Amino acid sequence: MDPVHNPYSPGAGRKPAALVGRDQPRANWKVALDRVEIGKSAQPFVLYGLRGVGKTVLLSDFRRAATRRDWIVAQVEAGAGKSLREALGEALHASLADLARPSAGRRLMKALKTAVSFKASYDSTGTWNFGVDLAGASGGGADTGVLETDLRKLIHDLAAAAQEEGVGLAILIDEAQDLNHSELVAICAIAHAAAQDEWSVLFALAGLPSLPRVLAEAKSYAERFNYEKIEELRGAVASEALTKPAAEEDVIWDDAAVGLIVKESAGYPYFLQQYGQDAWNAAAGSKITYDDARVGAASGRAALDSGFFRARWDRATRAEQSYLRAMAEDGDAGSSSGEIAARLGRSSASFGPARANLIAKGLVYAPEHGVIAFTVPGMAGFITRQS
Ligand SMILES: Nc1ncnc2c1ncn2[C@@H]1O[C@H](COP(=O)(O)OP(=O)(O)OP(=O)(O)O)[C@@H](O)[C@H]1O
Ligand SMILES: [Mg+2]
Repeated sequence: MDPVHNPYSPGAGRKPAALVGRDQPRANWKVALDRVEIGKSAQPFVLYGLRGVGKTVLLSDFRRAATRRDWIVAQVEAGAGKSLREALGEALHASLADLARPSAGRRLMKALKTAVSFKASYDSTGTWNFGVDLAGASGGGADTGVLETDLRKLIHDLAAAAQEEGVGLAILIDEAQDLNHSELVAICAIAHAAAQDEWSVLFALAGLPSLPRVLAEAKSYAERFNYEKIEELRGAVASEALTKPAAEEDVIWDDAAVGLIVKESAGYPYFLQQYGQDAWNAAAGSKITYDDARVGAASGRAALDSGFFRARWDRATRAEQSYLRAMAEDGDAGSSSGEIAARLGRSSASFGPARANLIAKGLVYAPEHGVIAFTVPGMAGFITRQS
């Protein structure tokens, strides 16, 4: 069928035509936005799950909900080559530029001045000019060089300005497991202070299944955060991810075709999008049949193998790949690190660096002590297919 109208969107962070199965966290986020707007606090949201389950897409949906209410919003990705300080500063600029005006209230003026000082803390050459005269405003001082101190000042002043404007401040951080230790501690401590003193701010963090543990290790009160495990789509909801976007293009799926793709994808959103896209392209007319789904599943799998899986596999060194290969024998369920070492004929400790590198690369994580598992669903099958 016409690829121009193909409604499926496989790819990291790509907004699906139909965002299905996430009603509960979206409703919870709305409640949190409402709470902040009436001056109450809400705990940070933590979205965690495997690769390709839809964390980024949901985080972006959260951002849009806040933006629709004219909140001050910043969405950043940790570990993408910028410090949290710089990433947050730059992400806030657009929101602040939109709000700045000569008639701004006292708190907004103060927040703008603080933001300018924050900018100066990581960028000695560039400066912000919001087109307003901040000379008489209070504020500033978010440039001591100590991240927690500066970020606390910035978020405090911005939240106060947001409240003055009748809105809130939303800080969204993707791949949060890649924050460094002092960034994690700062975010946890500030979120905690914000909840206690009812600042008009809402945090959302997204990341791999290791994220809850990483946060708890940074600050014990992170245990009180609002954790949402993001998982594969099940049953009718997985079907909807295929049929809803098609229906909007006046295309229908045969039930057997839907059944096949849901089974082949195991309900993982990324795979549903990939197989859906390929089944659509294989179909003629305005119906996707079982045969189209079979062709689509085959070419979808080839596309995943050469893209989604291959890209991650290629990120591992030879030695790391042999570790992954030993893990693959246990399937996707996870392996005992002791057993893998035994399988490879060496001591468990000698694999410490390889394991640490694979975790840092986001390919594996430790669900519990002494256990190691793939962050990528279906990775074990991919590795088995390679050998
Ligand atoms: N609820 C959903 N319904 C339908 N499709 C979805 C849903 N969530 C995500 N997708 C699709 O799944 C794919 C992966 O989504 P996304 O990039 O958000 O996953 P992720 O969990 O952030 O993955 P990673 O850990 O690799 O960053 C995208 O193609 C997206 O369109
Ligand atoms: Mg993501």
